[in-house]
Amino acid sequence: MDYIKQRFFEKGTVARAQIAELLSKSKDLIVDEVTVGNVLGGMRGVTSLLTLTSKLDPHEGIRYRDYKLRDLYAHLPRKKGGSEPLAEGVFYLLLTGDIPTSEEVEYIRQDWVQRSEVPPHVFKAIDALPSTSKPMTRFATGILAAATQSQFQKKHRSGLRKEDYWDSTYEDVMNMLAQLPVIASYIYRTEFCDGNPIALDPDLDWSANFAHMMGFNDEEMYRLFRMYMFIHADHEGGNVSAHTSHLVSSALSNPFYSYAAGMIGLAGPLHGYANQEVIRWINDMYKHYNKTIDNPLTLEEVTSFVNQTLDEGKVIPGYGHAVLRATDPRFTTQLEFAEKHIDNDSMIETVKMLFQVVPEVLQERGKAKNPWPNVDAISGSLLLHYGIKDYIFYTVMFGVSRALGVGTQNIWDRFLGMSIERPNSQTLDWFMDFVKEAK
Ligand SMILES: CC(C)(COP(=O)(O)OP(=O)(O)OC[C@H]1O[C@@H](n2cnc3c(N)ncnc32)[C@H](O)[C@@H]1OP(=O)(O)O)[C@@H](O)C(=O)NCCC(=O)NCCS
Repeated sequence: MDYIKQRFFEKGTVARAQIAELLSKSKDLIVDEVTVGNVLGGMRGVTSLLTLTSKLDPHEGIRYRDYKLRDLYAHLPRKKGGSEPLAEGVFYLLLTGDIPTSEEVEYIRQDWVQRSEVPPHVFKAIDALPSTSKPMTRFATGILAAATQSQFQKKHRSGLRKEDYWDSTYEDVMNMLAQLPVIASYIYRTEFCDGNPIALDPDLDWSANFAHMMGFNDEEMYRLFRMYMFIHADHEGGNVSAHTSHLVSSALSNPFYSYAAGMIGLAGPLHGYANQEVIRWINDMYKHYNKTIDNPLTLEEVTSFVNQTLDEGKVIPGYGHAVLRATDPRFTTQLEFAEKHIDNDSMIETVKMLFQVVPEVLQERGKAKNPWPNVDAISGSLLLHYGIKDYIFYTVMFGVSRALGVGTQNIWDRFLGMSIERPNSQTLDWFMDFVKEAK
């Protein structure tokens, strides 16, 4: 068995025994209660999923396995002389729970390079879409087209024992991860550049290769991409993209299908699309006050525009969260990155002004449970600073990173033999009667 697979198999065998014990001894233990408010409020806060890869604490933010993001800077392998963790190491950590050695990271890097050839029909499927189709439509189409390679699907159709599901799922996830930067950068090159794809560099790591294939070839860009891929990788199991992937996968759809489904969820403005919305909204603010990069917005203008947006019944993109109740550490990581590496950028200055203004305004208005910035409040301004001007591509970049978490969750789901998801639903009459009886 392949080395990384073997490491996962050992961890998985222990977890399988724990699941078997939970099911045999504690199946009827009550975990949580469900109120009418929960049902009508998107099941917010109801514990009903098992996710091994990460955990989101409302105040501390995300932990990949046992580690806060900040601590992983010190623990995860980096490129010689580099400051940002490598995505290969993030994958290993999410999959096994252990910090990898540099050799293990290099093993995965080489494995992904070898698996990176994308079947030509994937590009044809993307090219067949009309010019009006959005980058996320192209991305999801490319992923679906890539599903022809699915080993899980082939093996399952020819008869596969449940305990072996994980093996071909692992192969699919590894192939998909290896190919995603190639697919995403093809979309970027064809939609926003000269249309000529750039070949993968077999000596670069996954994140740097993504930058390279998009057409950016310097250490500064590699550093930005490593940071970006690191912080967006996973956000436990209940967020829309991870949960959608989990749900679709629970019907034994192949990993390409389930991840593509998750990407369709990520494309929503309340989820990953918010990183584009932030830039669009700030641009609107500049236009509204007839301001330019050289003639920046004032604090008063920013405050007034925030209030105007809320008065129009819109949300402030990049602020608020369904779980977090503090500033997202992924926001802080990016802010620190900007402070360390970027001088005098008017968009980033506006983002900082918004950080001064929005929490106070949202608190005063008293509606949003979390007035603090999330990951999307700043990510676009960094990408913009480094020359990725076509912000409608940003959610694709988020999606490439998120595959690390969704993919490892998928392998775990298969290893643990998770059941098909099928919650109960009731009619409105049932709820009305239920409430009447309860009273
Ligand atoms: C992320 C988000 C969808 C979470 O939604 P949620 O869990 O329902 O949030 P809350 O419980 O705090 O919502 C309570 C109310 O405050 C509002 N609210 C929450 N965040 C808000 C924001 N950034 N701006 C204005 N209003 C906001 C909600 O729309 C809701 O209003 P309603 O009762 O009229 O429907 C929400 O904060 C939001 O829309 N943020 C902006 C989009 C964004 O940045 N998304 C990326 C998230 S990582």
